[in-house]
Amino acid sequence: MGFTDKHLLGIEPLSPAAISEILDLAESYVDLNRRPNKHSDVLAGLTQINMFFENSTRTQASFELAGKRLGADVMNMAMQASSIKKGETLIDTALTLNAMHPDLLVVRHPQSGAVDLLAQKVNCSVLNAGDGRHEHPTQALLDALTIRRAKGRLHRLSIAICGDIAHSRVARSNIILLDKMENRIRLIGPPTLMPSGIAEFGCEVYEDMQQGLQDVDVVMMLRLQRERMDGGFIPSEREYYHRYGLDADKLQAAKEDAIVMHPGPMNRGVEIDGDIADDINRSVIQDQVEMGVAVRMAAMDLLARNGQASAAEGMS
Ligand code: NCD
Repeated sequence: MGFTDKHLLGIEPLSPAAISEILDLAESYVDLNRRPNKHSDVLAGLTQINMFFENSTRTQASFELAGKRLGADVMNMAMQASSIKKGETLIDTALTLNAMHPDLLVVRHPQSGAVDLLAQKVNCSVLNAGDGRHEHPTQALLDALTIRRAKGRLHRLSIAICGDIAHSRVARSNIILLDKMENRIRLIGPPTLMPSGIAEFGCEVYEDMQQGLQDVDVVMMLRLQRERMDGGFIPSEREYYHRYGLDADKLQAAKEDAIVMHPGPMNRGVEIDGDIADDINRSVIQDQVEMGVAVRMAAMDLLARNGQASAAEGMS
């Protein structure tokens, strides 16, 4: 069974076949996006509304571009200036928008679970663009596509996820996806930045970068998510960089052809050395951005098809 769901709320409910279907379709959109004429009309006539309750640069731009390239009518709600500020609840905002008959709602929200809740209240497809520290499914899918293209496969790889794992929905969605595809996952970071119940993830946990990075194929760095920290999680940024910042020295422990990833936004000199981030022989950070548009096009294309299929069923 491939991807047949009405919503894309997380990686958790997806089967390996569904993940592969999204990635395979995304490959065709990578090709389209490299052509001078990038237009397709698979979403022509459909309305996509982006509701971002948290600041976002690349994710929102990526979803907007993805929808426009597929021919949808795309609207960005300025949530900062919205009626939420006047006391309206998330659900009332959603119901108001729902009455305007959108086909796709792309939602980012600071609270874990908020996007799932919203999906229960509206008729259209909902795409989770990041909810609290819960899930960020399109990020994990774009990371998977980047890895698959760089390494030629997406199974039996040794992948290190490093840094602020406790506060990261990117880490969570990636761990779930990479585990479903049967990879070996290592989590590296200070104990204060490891999520509670880490044992359940079935990953190897390291406190030391050199040890954890030994012979890995992929090094995935994460931002220190200060906005989600409510106390002293690290001694100082300088000390953190010294112990956990990815530099040439620490990267030596990884395989010679290991790739370096970061979802952005990046803090150079905090979790990663600027030269490593810019090294085109190691870093695939710009590829991740490119894959992001293609993966979002694929996800929205499939959601629209699934929506039409369920509407047709409803009529028969
Ligand atoms: C991530 C996010 O928002 O969760 N960024 C992104 O989507 N590119 C990671 C982060 O903010 O550090």
